[in-house]
Amino acid sequence: MRTVTTRAELEAALAAHERPRALVPTMGALHAGHAALISTARRHAATVVVSLFVNPLQFGSATDLARYPRTLDADARLAEASGADVLFAPAVEEMYPPTEVIPTINPGPLAVRLEGASRPGHFAGVATVVSRLFDLVHPDLALFGEKDAQQVRVVEWLAAQRSDQIRIMRVATVRDRDGLALSSRNQRLSQHGRQSAARTIPVALSLVAEAYASGVRSVGTLRALAERVIASEPSVELDYLDFANGDSLAPLPDSKELHDTGADPILVSLAAVVDSVRLIDAITIP
Ligand code: PAJ
Repeated sequence: MRTVTTRAELEAALAAHERPRALVPTMGALHAGHAALISTARRHAATVVVSLFVNPLQFGSATDLARYPRTLDADARLAEASGADVLFAPAVEEMYPPTEVIPTINPGPLAVRLEGASRPGHFAGVATVVSRLFDLVHPDLALFGEKDAQQVRVVEWLAAQRSDQIRIMRVATVRDRDGLALSSRNQRLSQHGRQSAARTIPVALSLVAEAYASGVRSVGTLRALAERVIASEPSVELDYLDFANGDSLAPLPDSKELHDTGADPILVSLAAVVDSVRLIDAITIP
């Protein structure tokens, strides 16, 4: 694997590799979730490019940005072991040269609710950096995790607005043994916070999936089941628990009855704060 930090080096490295080319955008602090994206990319492309860039545009606060873990050496080892050919790890001035005007990319209608409402500007930052990475890497394929379910829909929308026909591939959420979705933010949880999060967040979502599988169709009933689990741990503060059309992300009211035939998948997503750490998770039913 070659690690490059400038756009010129990236271009030279890409010229030496065959297509199809896959891109796995990351912010580093890589874990088994990222590894799953990279190894899936490996199976679908001749060349796998991993980008590692902590994108200031998508952080709401400077402290949150400063707190983001930076572990380049370990990340390079994990990227290589998972099958990456090129690791692109640019500095901020390389991605956003001070002499250039950086147009903010509109993240579109799917970015308004949920994380978009809780974190103003976040998805504009994501759309801007992802577009820039697409322009620099020219991938045939780009991979994103389903844990960040709204992000993947926003990126699919973004790719559909472009003329270069980049295929977006979704990769299933990788979880720890206790059920908690892997996230670099989990490192910031206390032992108690970790336990509380694991006993509630994934449990609430799987309870919804099980209830749905056993025939419960009322959104209100499914929501109440999940909310009861979250409320059982006072240290877990729910931001939102949302039922939406998985395609349009339009909210489904509690009065809605879900029916099996011909319906789009339903996205059940939640955000909760534990130990001041904001955690998100999601599942799709059926
Ligand atoms: P980051 O949080 O580093 O995540 C990079 C990719 O890994 C995203 O597509 C995310 O959905 C995926 N991922 C994270 N945890 C996962 C897990 N437990 N299982 C499966 N996939 C997982 O998401 C971002 O970075 C940034 O917003 C980015 C897209 C790189 C733009 O800056």
